[in-house]
Amino acid sequence: MTDKLIIFDTTLRDGEQSPGASMTKEEKMRIARQLEKLGVDVIEAGFAAASPGDFDAIKSIAEVIKDSTVCSLARANEKDVRAAGEAIKPAKRGRIHTFIATSPIHMQHKLRMTEDHVVERAVQAVKWALEYTDDVEFSAEDAVRSEMDFLVRVFDAVIKAGAKTLNVPDTVGYSIPALWGERFKELIARVPNSDKVIWSTHCHNDLGMASANSLSAVLNGARQVECTINGLGERAGNASLEEIVMAVRTRRDVFSCDCRIDATQIVPTSKLVSSITGYPVQPNKAIVGANAFAHESGIHQDGVLKHRETYEIMRAEDVGWSTNKLTLGKLSGRNAFRTRLQELGIVLESEDALNAAFARFKDLADRKSEIFDEDIQALVSDEEVTQVSEHYRLVAMGAHSETGALPVARVVLNVGGKEQHADAQGGGPVDATFKAIEQIVQSGTELLLYSVNNITSGTDAQGEVTVRLSKGGRVVNGQGADTDIVVASAKSYLNALNKLHAGTERAHPQV
Ligand code: KIV
Ligand code: ZN
Repeated sequence: MTDKLIIFDTTLRDGEQSPGASMTKEEKMRIARQLEKLGVDVIEAGFAAASPGDFDAIKSIAEVIKDSTVCSLARANEKDVRAAGEAIKPAKRGRIHTFIATSPIHMQHKLRMTEDHVVERAVQAVKWALEYTDDVEFSAEDAVRSEMDFLVRVFDAVIKAGAKTLNVPDTVGYSIPALWGERFKELIARVPNSDKVIWSTHCHNDLGMASANSLSAVLNGARQVECTINGLGERAGNASLEEIVMAVRTRRDVFSCDCRIDATQIVPTSKLVSSITGYPVQPNKAIVGANAFAHESGIHQDGVLKHRETYEIMRAEDVGWSTNKLTLGKLSGRNAFRTRLQELGIVLESEDALNAAFARFKDLADRKSEIFDEDIQALVSDEEVTQVSEHYRLVAMGAHSETGALPVARVVLNVGGKEQHADAQGGGPVDATFKAIEQIVQSGTELLLYSVNNITSGTDAQGEVTVRLSKGGRVVNGQGADTDIVVASAKSYLNALNKLHAGTERAHPQV
């Protein structure tokens, strides 16, 4: 007998809590559509009470997603729960996920609440949520450091109140697999009516064990795993969806459950999330890293050629590595472009947006002979980037470097409708370009990260640049793609500055 394992993806909520990973509504909708295509059961689309923009993004996702449940997080207070309830209202299937901390350290220092008060609030939050949907999930934040007797008491109370899913989070990534599994075994044994609800595991990766801990919970009765694409998430991240799914699939001899994920969509989803959030995937990351299926050593190559299973436990094509298709070229027309966008699940809201994206595609095809799906994704991301808010727009630029001479750059920007230009020298062409931009903008930001990745292979590939800027406690990531990495760098820097300029205040659910 194979049980159903529910895959609850929180890339758009817990993943988005990573520094600088905040996304626009359009970006969230693209990821949500891809998660639906991937086959996740529940999409946690955000934290509705964080800001009007977050509310709006969840509502828009709820309007378009049909095959996955759309969920909003809510702290255990009336305002949050009602915001979540309103945001998921348009969903075909909507869930409210409410939570409160249950560990002594959180109750004492963060909430300043007694145990009785916490139980009362948890029960009340579940009841408020039930006014909007019968699909209510309750989480005991920091369950890993909570006392077992108290956890049993809280979970018993919320089941009686009507919660259908009970989530047990390792909020700080403290557990180890054997202990996490035992925790589930004990909870399921002790909580009355535990067989009437779904037990869920939510693990953070601070000690590198988020996926292992989640899988141990599954072996001990959890039937929902909360995870993110590429393991994105605050600090060291969350359990990664691809690792959970492929572990359960590859070790069917060990796990008596399966999920409805279409594994061939894993790599495309990973690439989309990485390009939108600006969080590159490390090359040796399981399943989705560029080297995950590369056999470097001669002995391994020889073995794989003679008999694949000697060194391979999964097939690259089964997780979507071969979907890197050569799709369009210089001669492809507007209709072919539109069709490919549809096949990739990309919906451009207007004919103008399609025309602009097509113009960019033609421009790219002039510089790059082969256009892959990833190029199209990046091109559309670039299009969305420019729609975000264009207080600073790149009009023109040039950079020059020569051995023995200081690199120089010249940029022309349109700043709030007025053209300005500057020249600067720097340690390299990118440094000179950023200095020229700063001469104009004088942003006073701190550059926290600069990274370049090639979108496809080859020296004519587009470079995708991510910069992370910080100012006054706010951190933003900017992205830009171009076949010229100095231009991509300028675009990403301006994208980050535009995000800072457009910045809205958002509440963090756990602080
Ligand atoms: O890590 C955590 O405890 C959370 C909860 C809000 C579920 O993300
Ligand atoms: Zn979390």
